[in-house]
Amino acid sequence: MMKTRLSRLLSIFIVLLLLVSVVACSNDKEPEPTVEPTPTETAEPKETEKPKEEETLAPTEDVDPIVEYEGGLKDVYEDHGLIAGTCLAPAMIGSEKYTSIILENFNTITLENHMKPEAILDHKASIEAGEIIVKFPKDTIDLLDFAKENNLSVRGHTIVWHSQTPDWIFFEDFDTTKGKVDKDTMLDRMEKYIKRTFEILKELDYIDMFYAYDVVNEALLDNGSLRDSHWKSTIGDDYIWYAFYYADKYAPDHIKLYYNDFNEQFKTQAYIKLAKSLVDDDGEFLIDGLGCQGHLYTKDSIDSYISMLKSFAELGLDVQITELDISLGTWQQILKATDDNLKDQGKYYYELISRIIAENEAGNTNVSGITFWGFADQLSWRRDRSPLLFDAKLNPKYSYHGAMLNKDHAGY
Ligand code: G3I
Repeated sequence: MMKTRLSRLLSIFIVLLLLVSVVACSNDKEPEPTVEPTPTETAEPKETEKPKEEETLAPTEDVDPIVEYEGGLKDVYEDHGLIAGTCLAPAMIGSEKYTSIILENFNTITLENHMKPEAILDHKASIEAGEIIVKFPKDTIDLLDFAKENNLSVRGHTIVWHSQTPDWIFFEDFDTTKGKVDKDTMLDRMEKYIKRTFEILKELDYIDMFYAYDVVNEALLDNGSLRDSHWKSTIGDDYIWYAFYYADKYAPDHIKLYYNDFNEQFKTQAYIKLAKSLVDDDGEFLIDGLGCQGHLYTKDSIDSYISMLKSFAELGLDVQITELDISLGTWQQILKATDDNLKDQGKYYYELISRIIAENEAGNTNVSGITFWGFADQLSWRRDRSPLLFDAKLNPKYSYHGAMLNKDHAGY
């Protein structure tokens, strides 16, 4: 009996000893590693836990409050007699997140790359036919169909350009290992190229959507002289005149024929001189409009830009801003996308566009439309400079509010 009690006491003691040592050990152990949240835990909080938008985006100095607009850029600009455009690329039409922005804001488009010479001139077919052949590839058709289905008008871009133009069009038998063709042959090719472009637009039933066409693009250097190009070396300095002559001959009357260039504020007088030279035998203009690309920087002078527009207005031709984007800083020194720099960009968009509207309404300028070279920074050819209106999450930037002429939210 005594033995049994003793052995029970002993077992209780052993159990207690074991317990104490376990507790002691566990206190010495490294803390348990934190369990990584599963992907569902890191995703958006559930609807019930989600703070209201007003709470997350409460107006502070750095965070722009949500602004609800009725309508987009096209509606704001329509009230001032302007059309609003964007360039259009295949990446923009495949996703509703982009198309909703496009259809909300724009009533006109320019194909960013898909009507350029390299897109529509067919090398193989030209060799086979022994003459220059124009063919619209599927991407071009898809983009034009998107415009048509959505009632968007189109600026044609571009026919005669030194860039994105295949070399083979300038060579004997369309073969770059041979010599360049003579002036007459090149003029014949230019005429066929221009004639077929407008014929195909008609055949495919797109012609009515087009209201403007960049017949010649970027022919002038910043010092006002003519840029060297295969067009210039085969035809001569008058290649621009011929391009407008043929475009005037084959384009229907409703399509305005434009000369389009960049750094326009630095080559204003050369633009004017060129435009004045583009007349027929009766002294009538072959050209209808001047395209100002508007690839600007937040440190560029708005005053100089406006005075250029005033000089163009005196010519009596149409004027459009055709590729507007406003990069941060200067072209030599790009600035980072800090809140302050983005605010400066918002103010710049606001100031530039409101001044154009004010000068138009005062009769000093005659800008009929503003086409932005895209809308979302990540789709821009200058994405490293954050030049556009929507950020990586497709939220409107100060620049969008500025372009919407909403001064209160443009970064002031
Ligand atoms: O399509 C090819 C793709 O197959 C390839 O994988 C990729 C690799 O880089 O390149 C793609 O082509 C690019 C094309 O854009 C389409 O994205 C070219 O490299 C690129 O050079 C081309 O840039 C275009 C640029 O013109 C060429 O000059 C830009 O998108 C376009 O926005 C820009 O637009 C011009 C206007 O027409 C005239 N005014 C200035 C503006 C810049 O030059």
